[in-house]
Amino acid sequence: MPLFTDRIEAKDFPKMPKEYQDLLVRVLTIQTDSELGGPDLYVERWIRVAPTAEDQMLLAKTAAEEIDHHRKFRNILAEIGVDVSYLLKSRREEKILETFRYPLETWAEMGMFGLLIDRVGGFHLHDFAESTYLPLGRIIPDIVREEKMHIWHGLKITRELCQTEEGKAQAQAALDKMYPRALDMFGLSSSRRSDQFKEWGIKQRTNQQCRLDYIAEVDPIIEELGLRIPDPLANRKYL
Ligand SMILES: [Fe+2]
Ligand SMILES: [Fe+2]
Repeated sequence: MPLFTDRIEAKDFPKMPKEYQDLLVRVLTIQTDSELGGPDLYVERWIRVAPTAEDQMLLAKTAAEEIDHHRKFRNILAEIGVDVSYLLKSRREEKILETFRYPLETWAEMGMFGLLIDRVGGFHLHDFAESTYLPLGRIIPDIVREEKMHIWHGLKITRELCQTEEGKAQAQAALDKMYPRALDMFGLSSSRRSDQFKEWGIKQRTNQQCRLDYIAEVDPIIEELGLRIPDPLANRKYL
């Protein structure tokens, strides 16, 4: 199928083929759910025990922004008659993406969550910016700007930990645990659906292209921190 390049507004959505409708609703539902994934992991567990007032403030701000992102994606679905208000009540164990079901056990894992997992979110959002579905593209710039701060905070936490040998060992353990989960978040390389997303112009890159771009960005940062890059094939579930 040649690449679809029309630009679609909410009023055009009912006229679109079912495949386009299903793909868009699917990706928006996952995104709406995932925006609450972070808050479910750190609001109760980490905000008030973070080491400095600045860390506590930044985590609380991040949580507020994620809930706002959730609301923005949910509104886009509401506009086309899809009600996902039930997602507001879903908890960690019920998250659609597995990454969000694992608790953040250490402060190093909290840092790695920003550095690795929010960064994956940023990659997905970046792909939506040029989406053929215009209402989606419109909300992206503000969200991406906020995500950059979440990622920066994760980097700051990790950099501070890496000042001591003990902290560095904690950061390495968190990295080893979470790097495969981050790579898995891009989905299967051989996914037919991934090709369909690209054909319909809902996303710009396939799962595998997006994953390789992510690795190219994140690996130099890991090296710069003085940490070891984990084997990209070890402990993976979705190759
Ligand atoms: Fe977000
Ligand atoms: Fe975020």
